[in-house]
Formats: sequence, C-alpha cells, structure tokens
Amino acid sequence: MSVATSAGELLASTARWTAAVRAQESERPDRLLDDPWAAELAGTEGFAWLEKRTPEAVLPMVLRTRYFDDFLAQGAIPDGIRQVVVMAAGLDTRAFRLEVPAATRWFELDQPEILAHKERVLGAAGARPKCARHALGVDLTGPWADALMGAGFAPLEPAAWLLEGFLFYLSFQDLTTLLDQVLRMAPTGSRIGFDIINSATLTSPFTRSWVDMQAASGAPWIGALDDPVGFLAERGWTAAAVPLGAEEASYSRWPYPPVPAALPGVPYLWFVTGQKGK
Ligand SMILES: C[S@@+](CC[C@H](N)C(=O)[O-])C[C@H]1O[C@@H](n2cnc3c(N)ncnc32)[C@H](O)[C@@H]1O
Repeated sequence: MSVATSAGELLASTARWTAAVRAQESERPDRLLDDPWAAELAGTEGFAWLEKRTPEAVLPMVLRTRYFDDFLAQGAIPDGIRQVVVMAAGLDTRAFRLEVPAATRWFELDQPEILAHKERVLGAAGARPKCARHALGVDLTGPWADALMGAGFAPLEPAAWLLEGFLFYLSFQDLTTLLDQVLRMAPTGSRIGFDIINSATLTSPFTRSWVDMQAASGAPWIGALDDPVGFLAERGWTAAAVPLGAEEASYSRWPYPPVPAALPGVPYLWFVTGQKGK
C-alpha cells in the first residue's frame, strides 16, 4: 500500500535525520553505537539537517538508540524472544548490527519508499542481516496486522515490539489506537519499547525551540502521553518510563542533572519499556 502523501514524504525525511545522527555518533571514539551504513542511508538530506543542530540537541536520539539497542540485545534476545517487530523502522539497521540469533524472525514496518531506499543502500553495500528479516511497506495509521501475519509473524509467540522516534508524530488518537492494537495482540511474555513525550513538552518554553523547529521542518510533534506506565498497566503490562537524563539512560554523556520524576507542567521525554503479564 502506498502512503506517499506529502505529509508521509516529509516524515520519511525524519528517518534520514536520525540516520545522520547515528552516522555522526559512529565516528566518535567513545561512541555508544556503531552503524557502518548510517552515513550512506542518511545521504546529503540527512546531513544537511544535522549540520543545523548542535550535538547536544541530537544527543537524546543517540541515547535512545543505545537504550533500545540494549532493550533488545541485553534484554529481550537473551531472555529468549525470537520475534522482533520494529514499527516505523525507518533506516534502522539493528537487524544487521546487533548480535541476534539466526533463528530470530525480524519484521520492519514503515512507508514503502523509505524501506525501498534502505534496501537499495544495504543491498549495494552487501550488508547481510543476522537473521530472517522482512521489510513491510505499510501505513501504520491504517491496517497493518495482516501484512505482518502474511510475512510469517507468529501471533501466539511472544515478540519484542519497538516504536522508536515515531509516536510523537501521530495524533493522540492514532498513537493510542496503534499502541492499543499492539498491546492487545501481544501474548504474555511479549516486550515493548518506545519513546514518548508528555503534553507539557508541546507547550513548555523549555522545549519551544525544538517543537518549533520540528514544525518548521514539516514534521511537527503532535502526540503525547502523560502517563505511559499507567496506560500500559491498564492493559495488563508492567512498564517503566525512564526520563531523559536518568542515570540508566545517560551513559555518562548527558550533561545535565536528571529531571525529578513527574513534576506537573515539566516537559518529559521518556524511554518506556514494558512486558506483558509480569
Ligand atoms: C524519526 S523516523 C524514526 C525511524 C527509526 N525508528 C529511527 O529511530 O531511526 C520516523 C519514521 O516514521 C515513519 N512513519 C511516519 N508515519 C508513518 C506511517 N503512518 N506509517 C508508517 N511509517 C510512518 C517515517 O517514514 C520514518 O521512517
């Protein structure tokens, strides 16, 4: 299914932005991740966006990438999960760069155009995924589950679901509908990881310049959840929300003290992980 609307095309640019961030990080001697394909995937468009951002402004993307690398490679995979679903995968190359058992089934969902770009670049580079990987071009605000099942997803087997750098681009209705669907269809033992902002982030003077930049770049942040842990708990999931800057997600790179938990009116970006039924 094609979703090449102008809004879709603009959001596809965001995948190149994050690839450029991963490329830049991969060059550091103290890098938190190494993505050898990111520079080629980002292309001139990705680097043009990155050039206008300070290293500090994009550090949250580096931290979240590493946090969710660990969620999969240090958590779900060693715990025996053998299905991974990366929603809005963009130019994510985790299936190629993380240590994943060959028996894992790995599904990447995003707009067809961005996945086609990824296939071209990775194909030309001779990159090989570590496991059976399926890239599915879908609109995640429409029906997508049939495409996932058709590609061999086993609905009765636990999976790790990742929704990274995505939910704030959706309306509250679209993001809760999508989360609801994932949380409902996942059997006990499944995992989920996503990053999410609270609604104060959309209005606070502290985050104004970033929110304005996103809007001016054609990729406005519009979606937020004020209590992601409660949202998951109501649906039978145990979850934790780690705020940006917390020690377990700062890897000694975040330059500010952590923001204390849940202050009213304070903007939060959380890295959320959860497990169904525990
Ligand atoms: C900021 S990128 C994040 C990509 C990747 N998860 C990462 O962290 O690098 C957002 C992604 O959401 C995808 N996206 C946005 N709206 C979508 C939709 N309705 N259906 C499918 N993908 C969508 C874009 O194509 C883009 O790849």
